[in-house]
Amino acid sequence: MTPDMLKPVTNLVTWSATYSVGIKLIDDQHKELFNLVNDMYNHVNNDDEEAERAYFQSVIKQVVDYVKKHFATEEIIMKRTKYKGYAEHKKEHDAFILSVLDIIKKFDEGKRFPLISLTHFIKDWILTHIAIMDKQYFERLRKVASRKPKRKLSVTQAAIACC
Ligand SMILES: [Fe+2]
Repeated sequence: MTPDMLKPVTNLVTWSATYSVGIKLIDDQHKELFNLVNDMYNHVNNDDEEAERAYFQSVIKQVVDYVKKHFATEEIIMKRTKYKGYAEHKKEHDAFILSVLDIIKKFDEGKRFPLISLTHFIKDWILTHIAIMDKQYFERLRKVASRKPKRKLSVTQAAIACC
């Protein structure tokens, strides 16, 4: 048994109904983002920069790919529902990706960037974004969809087919 296996697993973020936007597809993706954040949190090792660096290199591409896939899902739903706030929302998504890519660049250049800082950066951004921008849009979408029952599922099914 390695010392890593003895370390208790703790969560930095725990899913609750407060974070639900009321659409299963999006909630499931947000839950997966929480899982990624918690996995990162459980690999924080301030005493071992090399271990953190190795973990970062093994996981960061997976994190970026998942975040991009998730953003694409939201964006396709927004486009198909002709959401007026689409451009502003996409701008937030793009800025976040650019920030993470900038951190990766610094890592690649050998700069010290503690995993705990990256983990908190991603966690804070995700929680704020879900609580404000995602909720605002998806709650509005649900209201519109509930007035048009036949279109209710087609919105999310289009996204599933697409992303
Ligand atoms: Fe979003």
